[in-house]
Amino acid sequence: MTQPVAASPSIFLTNPRHRRGPYPNRFRATLSREAGARAAAVIRSWSGYAPTPLVSLPKLAADLGVAAISYKDEGGRFGLGSFKALGGAHAVFRLLAGELERRSVRPTDLAALAAGRLADAVADITVTCATDGNHGRSVAWGASLFGARCVIFVHATVSEGRAEAIRRFGAEVIRTTGNYDDSVREAARMAAEKGWFVVFDTSYPGYVDVPRDVMQGYAVMVEEAVAALDRPPTHVFVQGGVGGLAAAVTAELWETYGADAPTVVVVEPLTAACLYESARAGVVTAVGGDLDTLMAGLACGEPSLIAWPILDEGVAAFTAISDATAVDAMRRLADGSTGATIVGGESGVAGLAGLIDLSAHPDRRAAIGLDASSRVLVFGSEGDSDPELYRNLVGRSGDAVRAEAHP
Ligand SMILES: Cc1ncc(COP(=O)(O)O)c(C=O)c1O
Repeated sequence: MTQPVAASPSIFLTNPRHRRGPYPNRFRATLSREAGARAAAVIRSWSGYAPTPLVSLPKLAADLGVAAISYKDEGGRFGLGSFKALGGAHAVFRLLAGELERRSVRPTDLAALAAGRLADAVADITVTCATDGNHGRSVAWGASLFGARCVIFVHATVSEGRAEAIRRFGAEVIRTTGNYDDSVREAARMAAEKGWFVVFDTSYPGYVDVPRDVMQGYAVMVEEAVAALDRPPTHVFVQGGVGGLAAAVTAELWETYGADAPTVVVVEPLTAACLYESARAGVVTAVGGDLDTLMAGLACGEPSLIAWPILDEGVAAFTAISDATAVDAMRRLADGSTGATIVGGESGVAGLAGLIDLSAHPDRRAAIGLDASSRVLVFGSEGDSDPELYRNLVGRSGDAVRAEAHP
């Protein structure tokens, strides 16, 4: 077995509240297979929908001493570069549908809304959010697809490339001081002042419906992965920002496989490990500071309120890794040494990087039952959504790597 970046620190915690058994009924108000299937039907109706590939990494599996690793590559999702395309745009769709219904007191023609034919009716509606890049791109894309106005808030360290990608969908971008959580507060303040509709991917007291619609949109990705696997996974490694992605993955797999659901491990950056800290404390816990990490999509200090209960019971272990470990995983995917050549971005590879790191710790392997018979599913949640940063970290552009993958 090859040893990963040995010098890089990481932390690990098994979750004492993890429970196996049927999916608890009380979580169904947040995430259920029915709601996920409803969201999936809407999303599949959008122009350009195609399932993303599930790619096998046989060489890495052999190196790490597991039976199989399947990588769900979200880099091509709707041409937006990440799985986030599914969530924000779905929440915008639901919000516009609800608002039209409220105004006309008639059921909205959902097919017409989805196809952009109600653009005149929604042109005076402004949607807004705060973002590290990917969620805002999804909200802006959704707004442009259906015809609404859009204003997106980005914090100090979001790259100009990411801001520009949002502007390309016709959204106004406002840069704020402070970290991601500060930009969330500023977006909420401006929205209240101007009568805009906030489409956050995180939930806080009194703000539940929209982040629930965001998470339900992610169900499509999990459904696709389940359909493409010939055998159920034994382990899933998924990265956490506010926990929306991880909760959607955990809930969908828990409902699908019940008591046989795979062992889920959540992976975060060491500098923004709010889910890890919440698991340690047994209660939602925020972490402060500038949350500085290359893994921009995971630089969140406060867990999503509605995601947390699902993670608190459904996740077997939490781990946090360094930026160096994530960059190592990006390079391995790019150079083909995993058995496939894939463009994976900084946040996108974090689950895989967590698996690589954990594999080198015998005690942690034992704690989660990771062995030669394990079939691991990871979610590659973004491609080179920041192309310049990708080139700097990997030494080649995403396009060059893709050309090697598909000459
Ligand atoms: C590429 C990528 N992966 C994972 C995540 C984490 O998702 P969540 O914040 O729902 O935990 C994000 C969040 O922005 C992201 O952009």
